[in-house]
Amino acid sequence: MHPAPENPISETREEPLADTPASRPLSRRALLCQAVTTLGLTAAQAILSPLRAEESSVPTDPTRVPGTPPTLYGQRSPFEKSERVVKSWWGSLTPLQDLDGVVTPASLHFERHHNGVPSIDPSHHKLLVHGLVDRPLILSMDDLKRFPSVSRLVFIECSGNSGSEWRAPTGQTAQQTHGLTSTSEWTGVRLATVLKEVGLKPEATWMLAEGSDAAVMTRSLPVADIMEEGLLCYAQNGEALRPEQGYPLRLVIPGWEGNTCIKWLRRLKLGTAPFMTREETSRYTDLMPDGSARQFTMVMEAKSVITTPSGGQKVRPGFIEVRGLAWSGRGSVMKAEVSTDGGRSWEEAQLQEPVLPKCHTRFRFSCRWDGEETILQSRCIDETGYVQPARTALIAVRGMNSDYHNNAIQSWKISREGHVTNVQV
Ligand code: CO
Repeated sequence: MHPAPENPISETREEPLADTPASRPLSRRALLCQAVTTLGLTAAQAILSPLRAEESSVPTDPTRVPGTPPTLYGQRSPFEKSERVVKSWWGSLTPLQDLDGVVTPASLHFERHHNGVPSIDPSHHKLLVHGLVDRPLILSMDDLKRFPSVSRLVFIECSGNSGSEWRAPTGQTAQQTHGLTSTSEWTGVRLATVLKEVGLKPEATWMLAEGSDAAVMTRSLPVADIMEEGLLCYAQNGEALRPEQGYPLRLVIPGWEGNTCIKWLRRLKLGTAPFMTREETSRYTDLMPDGSARQFTMVMEAKSVITTPSGGQKVRPGFIEVRGLAWSGRGSVMKAEVSTDGGRSWEEAQLQEPVLPKCHTRFRFSCRWDGEETILQSRCIDETGYVQPARTALIAVRGMNSDYHNNAIQSWKISREGHVTNVQV
């Protein structure tokens, strides 16, 4: 592969970039119409039966019939099929390869539940703040919404994201390898505002956050590290949280592992030490090669993934805009780099605005694919200068005993036929 000029127009005229309807000799509709003419009605019905419902409701000329009226709550086009992948009872994965920009639609935000999504009436929901405080308080949702409100675009990533990729390349798509991360605009009250209201005692150094799901999900959080950025959120991308994202109230700790962002939040208790809940002993610790375990590894390290082209997709020779996402729990992405030769050489990708701390950042890199087998990679360098590691370098330090905090460089192989697959180098 070779770097290509930013503007691919001269090449697209010779060679279509993608398999667009215009580039196909006959559309499916056109083929079906031919079949109808040739075979008569009965046979045609058999052929038409697999016709998708949304196709049958589309007029051949939309300028000749009135459109549909306004609706109370919007829906996407029936032609759009991008979906989460549901992983058994515990969660679902964001289709990163289908999304543009950096915001994840709330309906496609990944899920990780510990015992399902509770049904909660917001008019009955309360947040108790107690422990080492001067004035313990019970706050209703209305009380919380009276406080000054802030909005911030940040990613939430499950610490188990890419956990299946330690030993072998198991995920076939970017959704399956990296789909446990999503970005939203979160709106709520600063944690510091509420803790000031209750009067934090000087000895209060740890805070227990508890959810009202059927797992009563709990985590202990060091107060000094979360005061500045912690948010008690009631809205996501401009509307109320989705039930699966913690409706009506969720704690968001920007840059920290997703499980600290307690959903369906009902209690904050201040104390002098970690509360040592089951989530900090049996789960969410990182077993090291020497048998010891890292505990309270909260920050999500710098990471990236190429979403186009990525596993399961097919590319054509010629111009390719490589697109992907980079992020870091330690701050802003300083640089994203792309390798088109399996990591032997690296070139700087273009970062697309907005470039925000602890938020997915879109990168783009123009190149030409000459039709030879190659391996595409990306790596994130964050504002601290930390460079996302190769898989072998990460394993040399961490071993392979833990499911969590796998931020290794992802490799996508392009075969001579243009098929993209997940490989490890
Ligand atoms: Co951790």
